[in-house]
Amino acid sequence: MTSGISNLKINAGRLQRRLADLATIGAIDGGGCARLALSDEDKAGRDLVCRWMGELGLSITVDAIGNVVGVRPGRQAGPPVMAGSHIDTVRTGGRFDGNLGVLAGLEVIETLNEAGVETEHPLAVAFFTNEEGARFAPDMMGSLVFTGVLPLADVLQTRGIDGSSVGENLTRIGYAGNAPVPAQSPRAYVELHIEQGPVLDHEGIDIGVVESVQGISWTEIEIAGVSNHAGTTPMSLRCDAGWAAGSIIAFVREMAEEMGGSQVATVGRIEFFPNLVNVVPNRAVLTVDLRNTREESLRSAEARLLAHVAALRDAEKVQIATRCLARFEPVPFAPEMTALVERHARAHGLTTRRMPSGAGHDAQMLAAVCPAAMIFVPSVEGFSHNVREFTHPHHIEAGANVLLSVLCELAGAAKPAGVHS
Ligand code: GLV
Ligand code: MN
Ligand code: MN
Repeated sequence: MTSGISNLKINAGRLQRRLADLATIGAIDGGGCARLALSDEDKAGRDLVCRWMGELGLSITVDAIGNVVGVRPGRQAGPPVMAGSHIDTVRTGGRFDGNLGVLAGLEVIETLNEAGVETEHPLAVAFFTNEEGARFAPDMMGSLVFTGVLPLADVLQTRGIDGSSVGENLTRIGYAGNAPVPAQSPRAYVELHIEQGPVLDHEGIDIGVVESVQGISWTEIEIAGVSNHAGTTPMSLRCDAGWAAGSIIAFVREMAEEMGGSQVATVGRIEFFPNLVNVVPNRAVLTVDLRNTREESLRSAEARLLAHVAALRDAEKVQIATRCLARFEPVPFAPEMTALVERHARAHGLTTRRMPSGAGHDAQMLAAVCPAAMIFVPSVEGFSHNVREFTHPHHIEAGANVLLSVLCELAGAAKPAGVHS
């Protein structure tokens, strides 16, 4: 670390208190959180984090897609070194996914404020709108607009699982801000996150040094069949949308197992119509989430899914429409940023492992516009998107201290002459 600050450490108790306080908003049984993007609970979470940003003296901006950035000035003007993540959750979320990266960023700021440390470049903490994509697709929506990949006007019209639009909800909760998008690119971006998988926990390693994020493909499939009586319609005369949906569920599972490697496949949402015990479904809507660290393999999985869908059309005489909800190629992080995280983690006496990320993250979008890095801490038994999500306090503290020292190096931190710790 830069001059006179190498012993600086975050306040682990204060970070835990903020994590616990934020988790009271949208709290659900079992210790988790339900703060779907742009819901009332998301608004309350945003208000609390903005209050903390204000108390820390950050200048807060809200952009037109609701991303919030709090900036601490540096000695020089110019783009900030940014820490960030998200505070929306899936409906059955834990308290660490996303929240850790944002609150650890605030903890870094408070640590520097207390110690009277200045930085050459400004430091910022950001939380991005709708990282989860559980209510409105695609995921990483806020960072996609922030970095100019998605046009604001289209995204504002996107309708979610309840039929309401992103634009309506942003206005309703008071987070349709006026900072422009695409935004000025940060000088660098660093995201601390829980691993959300079992690798670090199983191997007993402290810090995951993230080299890449795997590719993601989300498809919504709508099947139209013919409703009929469950007791009187011979099997050979059915156009059963429910059966076709079930066949897709089984197909993607078997395909992923056969492909092996990093291929995973999930049907996470399904609806039947009219959804009655004695009626052959005339309509089914389901989503397929395919992921792979290799773009070629992901394309091949997508092609196999489409071939299966085509075969089902003929076999069951149903109509099937597919719609892409999200598609991201695998993203590598800048090697010098990966090496920086590794060096700082080791300097803290922590064990490290290089790894890809299985989950999507705002960092993968920021990586297109500035050097970006991710720091992973272990998730106990790998649970995430589940109220059982848990990371030990000593790992949270370790990850936040790595974030502190990485940000200090990137932003050029030093104590002004005459200030002693
Ligand atoms: C976001 O959490 C995702 O990877 O689905
Ligand atoms: Mn996350
Ligand atoms: Mn998540």
